[in-house]
Amino acid sequence: MSMTIKPILPRFGAEVSGIDISKPLDAEQQAAVIAAMNQWGVCVYRNTGLDNDSHIRFSQIFGYLERAPSRPGKPPRHGHRELFDAGNLTETGEILQDEALLVHKKGDRLWHTDSSFMDMRSAYSLLLAYEVPREGGQTWFADTRSAYDDLPQSMKDRIAGLEAEHSLWWSRMLAGVPLTEEEIDQRSSARHPLVLHHEGSGRDALYVAAHARDIVGMERDDGRALIRELIEWATQPQYVFSVDWNPGDLVIWDNLASMHRGGDFDERNERRDMRRTTVREGTPPAEPDDPFAVLFSAGLKAPAKTDA
Ligand code: OGA
Ligand code: MN
Repeated sequence: MSMTIKPILPRFGAEVSGIDISKPLDAEQQAAVIAAMNQWGVCVYRNTGLDNDSHIRFSQIFGYLERAPSRPGKPPRHGHRELFDAGNLTETGEILQDEALLVHKKGDRLWHTDSSFMDMRSAYSLLLAYEVPREGGQTWFADTRSAYDDLPQSMKDRIAGLEAEHSLWWSRMLAGVPLTEEEIDQRSSARHPLVLHHEGSGRDALYVAAHARDIVGMERDDGRALIRELIEWATQPQYVFSVDWNPGDLVIWDNLASMHRGGDFDERNERRDMRRTTVREGTPPAEPDDPFAVLFSAGLKAPAKTDA
């Protein structure tokens, strides 16, 4: 059986079947998987049979994998630093009850693009479901290329050449983490153009979402109003769909062509085990690097040290 692509929205999102991604893929299959991502921005593969190792191997066809921050004396939970934990379980596999961590994770319920707060942007995220709640816990996606295409010309002119300042701590503050603007000022942030050129499709896309804190060179209030307006525009119903998960499902999204957010579920009582690999944009570094460890070395809540 050959690969079959079933669009979810006319311009965005597809269910892909007829290809066994748990086995090594030949060059032609890899090209087809990448082409599907370039066109559709989000691809859903059901019942993949992937495990940690094959998840990582499959992800590597897209490029260099980011490494989750390591903590002194603690080996990575699933034995691989390439796996980011997007679920609600502790190191030992119980349901997380730590209030500070739960609030921090609430940030994923806001429309966001993974890692836009880093200087080096993430291109693809590949999220694999292991355990899912009985209700809720779906993931929502929004089409930032079509949203850009459909903007009135006056808005395209207004935002051309603008840059946004992105901070993880800003989206955490929005989610309820007790941080002040001054504390966020002291922590790292990254600047990216508000409109990006999506290489794989030749289309342009909005690059905003929850980490975007300010527009460079604009008054804070005006910049934030513009950021909110663009997020609202891009998350209108015609740009949005949700995915209901079952164990074994893999969803790949292109962070440079979409935004996403997690859906609510009974997080204190229901288990959700989701593991994610993240592919960095551009050419791999000569040696594996560790920018996330640097970012999180400031801790989740306490202000960063300023002697760096
Ligand atoms: C992520 C993320 C949302 C979800 O893994 O980057 O935002 O529904 N996940 O798990
Ligand atoms: Mn995310």
